[in-house]
Amino acid sequence: MGAAVPPGIPLKFGHANIDIRAGAGSARGLERNADTGAVFLLTAASRGLGLELAKQLASRTQGHVIASCRQPSKALELQALAQSHPGRMTVLELDVTDQASVDAAAAHVAALHNGRLDALFNVAGLLGDGRATPGPERSLGAIQRDWLRHSMEVNVIGPVMLAQAMAPHLRTTGQGRAKTPSVVVNFSARVGSISDNRLGGWHSYRMSKSALNQATKCMALELKRQGTWAFAYHPGTTDTDLSRPFQANVKPEKLFTPAFTVGRMLDLCDNMDQQHTGGFYDYSGTFLLW
Ligand SMILES: NC(=O)c1ccc[n+]([C@@H]2O[C@H](COP(=O)([O-])OP(=O)(O)OC[C@H]3O[C@@H](n4cnc5c(N)ncnc54)[C@H](OP(=O)(O)O)[C@@H]3O)[C@@H](O)[C@H]2O)c1
Repeated sequence: MGAAVPPGIPLKFGHANIDIRAGAGSARGLERNADTGAVFLLTAASRGLGLELAKQLASRTQGHVIASCRQPSKALELQALAQSHPGRMTVLELDVTDQASVDAAAAHVAALHNGRLDALFNVAGLLGDGRATPGPERSLGAIQRDWLRHSMEVNVIGPVMLAQAMAPHLRTTGQGRAKTPSVVVNFSARVGSISDNRLGGWHSYRMSKSALNQATKCMALELKRQGTWAFAYHPGTTDTDLSRPFQANVKPEKLFTPAFTVGRMLDLCDNMDQQHTGGFYDYSGTFLLW
Protein backbone atom coordinates (compact mmCIF):
# COMPACT_ATOMS: atom_id res chain seq x y z
CA MET A 1 0.00 0.00 0.00
CA GLY A 2 1.45 3.40 -0.98
CA ALA A 3 2.10 6.08 1.59
CA ALA A 4 -0.56 8.75 1.92
CA VAL A 5 0.18 11.90 -0.06
CA PRO A 6 1.18 14.54 2.49
CA PRO A 7 -0.94 17.66 2.61
CA GLY A 8 0.43 20.61 0.70
CA ILE A 9 2.82 22.80 2.58
CA PRO A 10 1.08 26.03 3.42
CA LEU A 11 2.93 28.85 1.75
CA LYS A 12 2.90 32.50 2.60
CA PHE A 13 2.90 34.05 -0.80
CA GLY A 14 3.36 37.63 0.08
CA HIS A 15 2.54 40.64 2.17
CA ALA A 16 -0.46 42.64 3.31
CA ASN A 17 -1.50 45.60 1.20
CA ILE A 18 -0.47 49.06 2.39
CA ASP A 19 -3.43 51.23 3.34
CA ILE A 20 -2.70 54.67 1.94
CA ARG A 21 -5.99 56.34 2.89
CA ALA A 22 -5.32 59.41 5.01
CA GLY A 23 -5.08 58.38 8.64
CA ALA A 24 -5.45 54.66 7.88
CA GLY A 25 -1.81 53.63 7.53
CA SER A 26 0.96 53.57 10.12
CA ALA A 27 2.01 57.16 9.36
CA ARG A 28 5.52 56.26 10.59
CA GLY A 29 7.01 58.05 7.60
CA LEU A 30 5.48 61.35 8.70
CA GLU A 31 8.12 61.54 11.45
CA ARG A 32 10.79 61.21 8.78
CA ASN A 33 9.18 63.88 6.61
CA ALA A 34 9.03 66.37 9.47
CA ASP A 35 12.64 65.79 10.58
CA THR A 36 14.88 68.68 9.48
CA GLY A 37 17.93 66.44 9.97
CA ALA A 38 16.66 63.68 7.66
CA VAL A 39 18.64 62.91 4.49
CA PHE A 40 17.09 61.53 1.29
CA LEU A 41 19.06 60.15 -1.68
CA LEU A 42 17.67 59.36 -5.10
CA THR A 43 19.11 58.26 -8.42
CA ALA A 44 18.04 59.39 -11.90
CA ALA A 45 17.01 62.87 -10.81
CA SER A 46 17.77 64.25 -14.29
CA ARG A 47 14.30 63.55 -15.74
CA GLY A 48 11.17 61.42 -15.58
CA LEU A 49 10.14 59.98 -12.23
CA GLY A 50 13.44 60.91 -10.60
CA LEU A 51 13.09 64.61 -11.38
CA GLU A 52 9.51 64.54 -10.10
CA LEU A 53 10.66 62.78 -6.94
CA ALA A 54 13.29 65.46 -6.30
CA LYS A 55 10.52 68.07 -6.55
CA GLN A 56 8.16 66.21 -4.22
CA LEU A 57 10.84 65.45 -1.63
CA ALA A 58 11.70 69.15 -1.55
CA SER A 59 8.09 70.10 -0.84
CA ARG A 60 6.90 67.13 1.24
CA THR A 61 9.87 66.75 3.57
CA GLN A 62 11.88 69.12 5.73
CA GLY A 63 15.21 67.32 5.32
CA HIS A 64 18.08 67.41 2.84
CA VAL A 65 17.67 65.92 -0.63
CA ILE A 66 20.69 64.48 -2.45
CA ALA A 67 19.44 64.39 -6.02
CA SER A 68 21.89 62.31 -8.05
CA CYS A 69 22.20 61.83 -11.78
CA ARG A 70 24.79 60.81 -14.33
CA GLN A 71 25.49 64.23 -15.83
CA PRO A 72 24.60 67.11 -13.52
CA SER A 73 25.83 69.73 -16.00
CA LYS A 74 23.12 68.63 -18.45
CA ALA A 75 20.33 68.37 -15.86
CA LEU A 76 19.26 71.99 -16.13
CA GLU A 77 15.77 71.65 -14.63
CA LEU A 78 17.24 69.79 -11.66
CA GLN A 79 19.92 72.45 -11.19
CA ALA A 80 17.24 75.15 -11.17
CA LEU A 81 15.22 73.14 -8.63
CA ALA A 82 18.25 72.83 -6.34
CA GLN A 83 18.91 76.56 -6.62
CA SER A 84 15.36 77.31 -5.61
CA HIS A 85 15.89 75.29 -2.40
CA PRO A 86 19.15 76.73 -1.08
CA GLY A 87 20.81 74.56 1.55
CA ARG A 88 18.19 71.82 1.14
CA MET A 89 19.20 70.08 -2.07
CA THR A 90 22.53 68.86 -3.44
CA VAL A 91 22.96 67.67 -7.01
CA LEU A 92 25.43 64.78 -6.98
CA GLU A 93 27.03 62.97 -9.92
CA LEU A 94 26.24 59.25 -9.73
CA ASP A 95 26.30 56.55 -12.39
CA VAL A 96 24.95 53.36 -10.83
CA THR A 97 26.94 51.18 -13.26
CA ASP A 98 30.24 52.63 -12.00
CA GLN A 99 31.36 51.22 -8.64
CA ALA A 100 33.76 54.13 -8.01
CA SER A 101 30.80 56.46 -8.45
CA VAL A 102 28.70 54.41 -6.02
CA ASP A 103 31.53 54.42 -3.47
CA ALA A 104 31.98 58.18 -3.89
CA ALA A 105 28.28 58.71 -3.16
CA ALA A 106 28.61 56.73 0.08
CA ALA A 107 31.68 58.78 0.99
CA HIS A 108 29.69 61.94 0.31
CA VAL A 109 26.96 60.87 2.76
CA ALA A 110 29.62 59.97 5.34
CA ALA A 111 31.49 63.25 5.02
CA LEU A 112 28.71 65.79 4.50
CA HIS A 113 25.81 64.22 6.36
CA ASN A 114 27.59 62.58 9.26
CA GLY A 115 26.87 59.15 7.82
CA ARG A 116 23.11 59.58 8.07
CA LEU A 117 20.66 58.50 5.40
CA ASP A 118 16.91 58.14 6.00
CA ALA A 119 15.77 57.03 2.57
CA LEU A 120 17.31 55.66 -0.61
CA PHE A 121 15.27 55.73 -3.80
CA ASN A 122 16.72 53.54 -6.57
CA VAL A 123 14.89 55.14 -9.49
CA ALA A 124 17.34 54.68 -12.39
CA GLY A 125 16.10 52.21 -14.96
CA LEU A 126 16.57 51.19 -18.57
CA LEU A 127 14.02 49.76 -21.03
CA GLY A 128 15.08 50.97 -24.48
CA ASP A 129 12.82 51.99 -27.35
CA GLY A 130 13.14 48.93 -29.58
CA ARG A 131 14.39 51.04 -32.50
CA ALA A 132 17.68 52.67 -31.61
CA THR A 133 18.31 49.99 -28.96
CA PRO A 134 18.16 46.15 -29.10
CA GLY A 135 15.66 46.19 -26.26
CA PRO A 136 12.96 45.73 -25.33
CA GLU A 137 13.16 42.44 -27.24
CA ARG A 138 10.12 40.83 -28.86
CA SER A 139 11.61 37.34 -28.93
CA LEU A 140 14.29 35.09 -27.49
CA GLY A 141 16.20 35.41 -30.74
CA ALA A 142 16.38 39.18 -30.41
CA ILE A 143 18.31 39.14 -27.14
CA GLN A 144 21.78 40.58 -27.47
CA ARG A 145 24.39 39.72 -24.85
CA ASP A 146 25.62 43.28 -24.37
CA TRP A 147 22.12 44.72 -24.00
CA LEU A 148 21.10 42.04 -21.51
CA ARG A 149 24.27 42.68 -19.52
CA HIS A 150 23.77 46.46 -19.59
CA SER A 151 20.12 46.09 -18.51
CA MET A 152 21.25 44.01 -15.57
CA GLU A 153 23.89 46.60 -14.68
CA VAL A 154 21.45 49.52 -14.65
CA ASN A 155 18.31 47.81 -13.36
CA VAL A 156 19.59 45.45 -10.70
CA ILE A 157 23.36 45.44 -10.10
CA GLY A 158 23.51 49.22 -9.73
CA PRO A 159 20.62 49.47 -7.24
CA VAL A 160 21.94 46.51 -5.24
CA MET A 161 25.47 47.90 -4.98
CA LEU A 162 24.12 51.31 -4.04
CA ALA A 163 21.97 49.77 -1.31
CA GLN A 164 25.01 47.85 -0.08
CA ALA A 165 27.13 51.01 0.02
CA MET A 166 24.41 52.99 1.82
CA ALA A 167 23.31 50.28 4.27
CA PRO A 168 25.63 51.42 7.10
CA HIS A 169 24.28 54.96 6.75
CA LEU A 170 20.68 53.74 6.74
CA ARG A 171 21.00 52.04 10.14
CA THR A 172 18.46 53.44 12.62
CA THR A 173 19.00 51.03 15.51
CA GLY A 174 21.63 51.66 18.16
CA GLN A 175 22.58 54.62 20.28
CA GLY A 176 22.32 58.09 18.83
CA ARG A 177 20.40 56.91 15.81
CA ALA A 178 17.08 58.18 14.49
CA LYS A 179 14.19 56.06 15.74
CA THR A 180 12.04 56.24 12.62
CA PRO A 181 12.92 53.30 10.36
CA SER A 182 14.75 54.25 7.19
CA VAL A 183 13.49 53.04 3.84
CA VAL A 184 14.85 51.73 0.53
CA VAL A 185 12.55 51.91 -2.49
CA ASN A 186 13.58 50.01 -5.60
CA PHE A 187 11.70 51.14 -8.70
CA SER A 188 10.59 47.92 -10.33
CA ALA A 189 7.82 47.13 -12.82
CA ARG A 190 4.87 44.75 -12.95
CA VAL A 191 6.46 43.05 -15.94
CA GLY A 192 9.06 41.78 -13.46
CA SER A 193 6.34 39.62 -11.90
CA ILE A 194 6.88 36.03 -13.06
CA SER A 195 3.35 34.90 -12.18
CA ASP A 196 1.88 37.85 -14.11
CA ASN A 197 3.85 37.07 -17.29
CA ARG A 198 1.35 35.90 -19.90
CA LEU A 199 2.80 37.59 -22.99
CA GLY A 200 6.55 36.97 -22.90
CA GLY A 201 8.89 39.40 -24.63
CA TRP A 202 10.76 42.32 -23.10
CA HIS A 203 13.26 39.70 -21.92
CA SER A 204 16.08 41.86 -20.57
CA TYR A 205 13.77 44.29 -18.80
CA ARG A 206 11.61 41.55 -17.31
CA MET A 207 14.59 39.51 -16.13
CA SER A 208 16.32 42.51 -14.57
CA LYS A 209 13.20 43.64 -12.72
CA SER A 210 12.48 40.08 -11.49
CA ALA A 211 16.03 39.99 -10.16
CA LEU A 212 15.52 43.39 -8.56
CA ASN A 213 12.40 42.07 -6.81
CA GLN A 214 14.36 39.12 -5.41
CA ALA A 215 17.15 41.50 -4.34
CA THR A 216 14.58 43.67 -2.60
CA LYS A 217 13.23 40.70 -0.64
CA CYS A 218 16.75 39.61 0.35
CA MET A 219 17.85 43.05 1.48
CA ALA A 220 14.59 43.64 3.35
CA LEU A 221 14.98 40.45 5.39
CA GLU A 222 18.53 41.42 6.32
CA LEU A 223 18.12 45.17 6.83
CA LYS A 224 15.03 44.79 9.02
CA ARG A 225 17.44 44.03 11.87
CA GLN A 226 19.06 47.45 11.53
CA GLY A 227 15.77 49.35 11.31
CA THR A 228 15.65 49.70 7.53
CA TRP A 229 12.59 48.72 5.50
CA ALA A 230 12.56 48.09 1.75
CA PHE A 231 10.00 47.52 -0.96
CA ALA A 232 9.87 47.21 -4.73
CA TYR A 233 7.56 49.69 -6.44
CA HIS A 234 5.52 49.43 -9.64
CA PRO A 235 4.50 52.96 -10.61
CA GLY A 236 2.13 51.91 -13.37
CA THR A 237 2.54 53.22 -16.89
CA THR A 238 3.64 56.80 -16.39
CA ASP A 239 4.14 59.48 -18.99
CA THR A 240 7.95 59.70 -19.26
CA ASP A 241 10.61 59.12 -21.91
CA LEU A 242 10.71 55.45 -20.90
CA SER A 243 7.10 54.68 -21.73
CA ARG A 244 6.62 57.15 -24.59
CA PRO A 245 7.41 54.71 -27.44
CA PHE A 246 4.82 52.27 -26.02
CA GLN A 247 1.93 54.55 -25.12
CA ALA A 248 -0.13 54.10 -28.29
CA ASN A 249 -2.24 51.25 -26.88
CA VAL A 250 -2.49 52.58 -23.34
CA LYS A 251 -5.94 53.85 -22.38
CA PRO A 252 -5.76 57.51 -21.28
CA GLU A 253 -7.03 56.65 -17.80
CA LYS A 254 -4.22 54.09 -17.45
CA LEU A 255 -1.46 56.54 -18.36
CA PHE A 256 -0.47 58.28 -15.16
CA THR A 257 1.36 61.52 -14.57
CA PRO A 258 4.73 61.46 -12.78
CA ALA A 259 3.14 63.63 -10.08
CA PHE A 260 0.55 60.93 -9.37
CA THR A 261 2.80 57.88 -9.31
CA VAL A 262 5.61 59.55 -7.36
CA GLY A 263 3.08 60.94 -4.87
CA ARG A 264 1.63 57.47 -4.38
CA MET A 265 5.09 55.99 -3.81
CA LEU A 266 5.70 58.55 -1.07
CA ASP A 267 2.26 57.70 0.39
CA LEU A 268 3.43 54.07 0.62
CA CYS A 269 6.61 55.18 2.39
CA ASP A 270 4.56 57.23 4.85
CA ASN A 271 2.07 54.49 5.64
CA MET A 272 4.07 51.26 5.50
CA ASP A 273 4.87 49.22 8.56
CA GLN A 274 7.33 46.43 9.32
CA GLN A 275 4.91 43.78 7.99
CA HIS A 276 5.23 45.35 4.53
CA THR A 277 9.01 45.32 4.25
CA GLY A 278 10.21 43.10 1.40
CA GLY A 279 6.98 43.48 -0.55
CA PHE A 280 6.28 44.40 -4.17
CA TYR A 281 3.63 47.11 -4.36
CA ASP A 282 1.85 49.13 -6.99
CA TYR A 283 0.65 52.72 -6.84
CA SER A 284 -2.52 51.76 -4.97
CA GLY A 285 -0.65 49.97 -2.20
CA THR A 286 -1.67 46.56 -3.54
CA PHE A 287 0.81 43.72 -3.08
CA LEU A 288 1.74 42.21 -6.45
CA LEU A 289 2.48 38.52 -6.80
CA TRP A 290 6.10 37.69 -7.55
N1 LIG B 1 7.55 55.28 -16.81
C1 LIG B 1 6.92 54.11 -16.65
O1 LIG B 1 5.86 53.87 -17.25
C2 LIG B 1 7.48 53.06 -15.72
C3 LIG B 1 6.72 51.91 -15.51
C4 LIG B 1 7.20 50.92 -14.66
C5 LIG B 1 8.43 51.11 -14.05
N2 LIG B 1 9.16 52.23 -14.27
C6 LIG B 1 10.48 52.35 -13.62
O2 LIG B 1 10.60 53.62 -13.00
C7 LIG B 1 11.96 54.06 -13.03
C8 LIG B 1 12.04 55.45 -13.61
O3 LIG B 1 11.55 55.40 -14.93
P1 LIG B 1 11.30 56.70 -15.82
O4 LIG B 1 10.02 56.50 -16.50
O5 LIG B 1 11.53 57.93 -15.03
O6 LIG B 1 12.49 56.53 -16.90
P2 LIG B 1 13.15 57.60 -17.88
O7 LIG B 1 12.30 58.79 -18.03
O8 LIG B 1 13.57 56.82 -19.09
O9 LIG B 1 14.47 58.04 -17.08
C9 LIG B 1 15.47 57.10 -16.84
C10 LIG B 1 16.39 57.68 -15.80
O10 LIG B 1 17.38 56.69 -15.45
C11 LIG B 1 18.64 57.32 -15.51
N3 LIG B 1 19.73 56.39 -15.74
C12 LIG B 1 19.89 55.55 -16.79
N4 LIG B 1 21.03 54.88 -16.66
C13 LIG B 1 21.60 55.31 -15.51
C14 LIG B 1 22.81 55.00 -14.83
N5 LIG B 1 23.68 54.13 -15.32
N6 LIG B 1 23.08 55.63 -13.66
C15 LIG B 1 22.22 56.53 -13.14
N7 LIG B 1 21.07 56.88 -13.75
C16 LIG B 1 20.78 56.27 -14.92
C17 LIG B 1 18.51 58.34 -16.63
O11 LIG B 1 19.56 59.28 -16.58
P3 LIG B 1 20.03 60.13 -17.89
O12 LIG B 1 19.11 61.31 -17.96
O13 LIG B 1 21.44 60.49 -17.59
O14 LIG B 1 19.90 59.23 -19.08
C18 LIG B 1 17.14 58.91 -16.31
O15 LIG B 1 17.22 59.85 -15.26
C19 LIG B 1 12.73 53.00 -13.82
O16 LIG B 1 13.38 52.12 -12.94
C20 LIG B 1 11.64 52.29 -14.60
O17 LIG B 1 12.00 50.96 -14.92
C21 LIG B 1 8.72 53.22 -15.10
